[in-house]
Amino acid sequence: MQWDKFFRSNLEPVEAYVPGLREEQIKEIAQVDTIYKLSSNESPFPPFPTAIAAMADQLVRLNEYPDGSSYELTLLLSHHYGIAQQQIICGNGSNELIDQIAQTCLEPGDEALYCWPSFVVYRSSTQIAGADRRELPLRQDGSYDLAALKAAITDRTKIIYICSPNNPTGGLVTQAELADFLSDLPDHLLVVFDAAYEEFVDDDYAARPLDFYDGVRPFVVLRTFSKMYSLAGIRVGYGFAPEPLVEQVNKVRAPFNVNSIAQAAARASLGDEKELTRRRALNTAGRERLYDCFDQLNLPYFKSHGNFIWVTLPDAMSTFDQLLARGIIVRSFDGAPGLRVGVGDELAVSKTIQAFEELFG
Ligand SMILES: Cc1ncc(COP(=O)(O)O)c(C=O)c1O
Repeated sequence: MQWDKFFRSNLEPVEAYVPGLREEQIKEIAQVDTIYKLSSNESPFPPFPTAIAAMADQLVRLNEYPDGSSYELTLLLSHHYGIAQQQIICGNGSNELIDQIAQTCLEPGDEALYCWPSFVVYRSSTQIAGADRRELPLRQDGSYDLAALKAAITDRTKIIYICSPNNPTGGLVTQAELADFLSDLPDHLLVVFDAAYEEFVDDDYAARPLDFYDGVRPFVVLRTFSKMYSLAGIRVGYGFAPEPLVEQVNKVRAPFNVNSIAQAAARASLGDEKELTRRRALNTAGRERLYDCFDQLNLPYFKSHGNFIWVTLPDAMSTFDQLLARGIIVRSFDGAPGLRVGVGDELAVSKTIQAFEELFG
């Protein structure tokens, strides 16, 4: 059977997402009881207690479809951020929003522009839409090179993605750089600022993308409940986008894309600034301990503004295996000369440090 004839030709170069090893597999390989999963930039903490209670309350109503417009959640987000409700979109994770925007805007002949390495969905959603991609190098510190992106704009450029802090390197663009980049930008292109890790940022010079969001210019800001709010498993992300774009995205969006438990959990999580501050401080402290360890072992790394650190290694794959044998699972990237190590809780950070010391001390 010639299956190829059924499939769209532009799917050919798309790489299906390969999930990491399951916990049971790791336990079997490593012969350990406890594993430290530091491979997906997840929070090491459970969802907020208020979110857990809100999710439990929803269970008895699972016979009903969710609110297809995420009305209450977008209303709450609107009050929280002072942005009109009509300019807020919710997705099954912000991943889905990236896909939806690409589906809405990109077609063959268009070009998407971003730096690389970065979040893999910019690449896949561009390819699936049949558009071309241009991937520019990151700067030396692992951050997006906004000046290079601006200089690379052509008539065909339709979307520019900015990821800050960037996954997988943790580099940041500054408020001044973003201001520069956005000034005098041609208006035939849409800028999508992916701020998935913004809640972890604790530097005042960091770009605050919402300062530049006016609901008029073609500028979108995406955020997520998956990371700092510990809701990765239930899938809910959100974005701010001018109304004409929201209206078009609603055409490609599945009617009930955000489930009712996710909506309830997100509503109950928003606004707990005290817990956010506590978690941010723990993450920063964990990062500092890992930096000290890498410094002592002379392993180069990028200063990160997220909940993960990219460390350069002489033989990344063998280190990956040796960490795995100790029950520590990190993220490797095909052929890349390093690993992305998640910042776990205090114990996980200690275990990570101990393992690196054993391997490189
Ligand atoms: C930069 C970036 N954007 C978006 C996402 C998607 O997050 P989610 O779909 O869980 O909201 C991730 C997930 O790792 C990410 O690293």
